[in-house]
Amino acid sequence: MKLFIDTANIEEIKTVSTWGIIEGVTTNPSLIAKEGRKLVDVIKEITSLIHGPISAEVKEGLSEDMLEEAFTYARMHPNITIKVPMTLEGIKATSRLSALNIKTNVTLVFSVPQAMMAAKAGATFVSPFMGRLDDDLKDPEAGYRLLEDIRVAFDNYGIETQIIAASIRHPLHVEQAALAGSDIATIPFRVFQEMVVHPLTTKGLEIFRNAQK
Ligand code: G3P
Repeated sequence: MKLFIDTANIEEIKTVSTWGIIEGVTTNPSLIAKEGRKLVDVIKEITSLIHGPISAEVKEGLSEDMLEEAFTYARMHPNITIKVPMTLEGIKATSRLSALNIKTNVTLVFSVPQAMMAAKAGATFVSPFMGRLDDDLKDPEAGYRLLEDIRVAFDNYGIETQIIAASIRHPLHVEQAALAGSDIATIPFRVFQEMVVHPLTTKGLEIFRNAQK
């Protein structure tokens, strides 16, 4: 499973780029707004730091408008992936972008039928949201089951659209994404910091530190 970072914060991206394990970046309108910068400026800077797919999300609307915005981003760098919202207009835009060999990531996916439509449109990636689904259904395994089901559906037909486990809130989501066979997990910086921690690792470090005194 590839690890992407889900952020638009350049300092976080600079830090993770030194770890040598991050293979892509996803952004969304909320993450861009948090930085108080223009999407094009953020995306441009990210392309110089991470050499893998970088998702830039277009505004929801008519497919022609989404396409116009998508072309602006796609022209900036071959790694730019157009993040398209899961609507019928989004599906139309995705089909057109796929035909032009522009990478796409269909986002806000909460069901197998939605994932199938995105795949049929030729999406490079599909982003099921684990955390938001768990919250909505008040079930900590709802996101996990959705990933498993999309994996089965895609494998039934040899669909090549890659599954990005998104809306990850804690290390257990990363574990569930890996067990469900996701191709990618896109993870916030804070969760990466939590992923290295285990109480027995902390205890073991202390024991070794004391022995080395
Ligand atoms: O980038 C899409 C997704 O990861 C958003 O996560 O935490 O806003 O549900 P969240």
